[in-house]
Amino acid sequence: MSTNILVIGGTGKTGRRVVKQLQNQGIEPKIGSRNATPSFDWNQKDTWVAALHGIENIYITYYPDLAVPGAKEAIESLVYLAKELGVKKIVLLSGKGETEAEACEKIVMNSGVNYTIVRASWFNQNWSESFFLDAVLSGEVALPMSNIPIPFVDADDIAEVAATVLLDDSYNGKIIEVTGPELITFKEIISIIEKATHRTLHFHEITLQQYIDGMTQQQIPAEVVWLIEYLFSHVLTNPKNQQISHDIELILNRKAKTFAAYVKETAKTGVWDEITVSK
Ligand SMILES: NC(=O)c1ccc[n+]([C@@H]2O[C@H](COP(=O)([O-])OP(=O)(O)OC[C@H]3O[C@@H](n4cnc5c(N)ncnc54)[C@H](OP(=O)(O)O)[C@@H]3O)[C@@H](O)[C@H]2O)c1
Repeated sequence: MSTNILVIGGTGKTGRRVVKQLQNQGIEPKIGSRNATPSFDWNQKDTWVAALHGIENIYITYYPDLAVPGAKEAIESLVYLAKELGVKKIVLLSGKGETEAEACEKIVMNSGVNYTIVRASWFNQNWSESFFLDAVLSGEVALPMSNIPIPFVDADDIAEVAATVLLDDSYNGKIIEVTGPELITFKEIISIIEKATHRTLHFHEITLQQYIDGMTQQQIPAEVVWLIEYLFSHVLTNPKNQQISHDIELILNRKAKTFAAYVKETAKTGVWDEITVSK
């Protein structure tokens, strides 16, 4: 069992939870991020060798998403370098139903290095740690495709699976699909968060074009708008992404976390509390 582990994105949504899982088992992994020492920056290849020094196993999360232009080339270069430097196993966090992510999976799978692919559906934590949080805080949630059923998965479950497969070679060569235990729509999500937070949240169904125009008006960077448009138009609508997998239960011997359980825990942290402006 390797304990020389690098968690790339080790302060992010899944990475920091993987770090915690490993620490709970007495393993202190190295963190790959721009703020770590030594630092790791996807955009500065000269940082990679020091970050990979002495490492046997890597958990890779690419930032911001494996679908963005340049991700495939970065994964290819990193995997090649990792192999050259003696890395023994790669666990790649991938996205369910993303063609570009599957191209990255293939690079890892054909590298000759042991691997496990963890292929995830959309994260619950997008509502509390990422792009849907601001809408919840504002009380006005305007989204397209509000009735599409999505098997939202919890980052705690993804991290526990990732930490397990990092340490257990019996998962080598496997693709693990991680989804939540139920299909849920945006409309249902807003109603669950509303009840748990005792706040009034207004849901507005809009078109994808209106959503994109709104983001552009708010001067959200063009590459982020591109990514969100891509995720809605290619990932959300892909029927393959509307299927529940039982891999979390098979690996962890317990049920995957429900969206309601995530909301109950998260509401207690205060992250969704109404923002009060002091006079
Ligand atoms: N969100 C979803 O619903 C979803 C679903 C399926 C798959 N995925 C996949 O999940 C992956 C992202 O994983 P995640 O959500 O756990 O991570 P995340 O929270 O998006 O990533 C944040 C982490 O990345 C680091 N980071 C940011 N820019 C960096 C750079 N230029 N170089 C090096 N590190 C950088 C941050 O640290 P510093 O700021 O300190 O550098 C932080 O540790 C993506 O590849 C995406 O395709 C996401």
